Amino acid sequence: MGIRIKKTASYLPKKVVDNFYFETFLDTSDDWISSRTGIKQRHFVEDSGIFDLIEKTIVNLNLSQEEIRRVKTIVVVTCTTSFAIPNLASQVQERFGFSKETYSLDINMGCSGFVAGLKLVEGIIKEGECALLIGAEVLSQILDFSDRNTAVLFGDGAGAVLLEYSKKNSIFSSGTKRNKRVLSYDHPTKGLHMEGREVYKFAVTTIGKSIDNFLKINNIKKEDINYFISHQANIRILETLAKNLNISMDKFPSNIERVGNTSSASIPILLDEINRESRLKHGDKILFFAFGAGLTWALAYLEW
Ligand code: ACO
Repeated sequence: MGIRIKKTASYLPKKVVDNFYFETFLDTSDDWISSRTGIKQRHFVEDSGIFDLIEKTIVNLNLSQEEIRRVKTIVVVTCTTSFAIPNLASQVQERFGFSKETYSLDINMGCSGFVAGLKLVEGIIKEGECALLIGAEVLSQILDFSDRNTAVLFGDGAGAVLLEYSKKNSIFSSGTKRNKRVLSYDHPTKGLHMEGREVYKFAVTTIGKSIDNFLKINNIKKEDINYFISHQANIRILETLAKNLNISMDKFPSNIERVGNTSSASIPILLDEINRESRLKHGDKILFFAFGAGLTWALAYLEW
């Protein structure tokens, strides 16, 4: 058994911040940022917060009364919420009038969280039910704007999918390689800390190997995959992974240039963009993969 993505939606805050903004107070340049990362701009919240992004994303899902009735699981994935209690998922249940039987939880697995959430939902969902999986981040609220190593990389945004039970198998894999030093956030005293080069190496080696293993173990031919939908951390990471797999970049969609790294929101935002561009066809085979704090990684193989 598995899950099927029935609908997608996303929302980016209105305020667009280009690389030139950082030149005004950091020793950096548009040229350095775009050539090392692929990022040209990102979106930041102004006077709103994470729940506002979630609310607008769910409105964009345009759920029917029937879909609202069928939702029995709500998972909000985030590593930047300031709401511990009540969790964001139960606020979503209240705001949109989802069923009182809804299982509502927030999870955090850094940038790997959305893909991990797909696996979690697959374990919970029952035939006839729907589930809402939302990735939402306000990274601008945890950044250290005096640190050029991290401040220029991240953006805010949210994306969501409406999932339903499917008889077709979905396949998952994930891993953890304990390392607090290279990527951490000590709330509320310090901003996000990242040793970028270490994370970069982890991404191209461990993730590259785990994609290879995943395809081998599950007897999936890489040529049969229509889209490799990756967490958007750095265009050079995507290019290296694609090159090592010998797969054309056409199969590795990216929006990092416009959106930056939005952590657990990056995959659902990208997925919604390519869905709205009508690039996905029924039966398309998609490999989702993400990596981030922990260090953690997660892979999911679904058919569209
Ligand atoms: N502008 C100008 N110079 C900079 C900047 C900047 N914004 N940032 C760093 N530098 C400097 C460094 O200080 C260093 O200078 P030095 O040689 O004088 O010491 C030099 O550039 C090289 O620094 P590196 O860190 O080696 O640069 P690199 O080419 O590795 O690029 C980057 C850094 C973009 C962060 C890259 O390592 C990367 O993308 N890493 C992966 C990040 C990632 O995948 N994150 C995902 C997880 S995020 C999460 O889970 C929340």
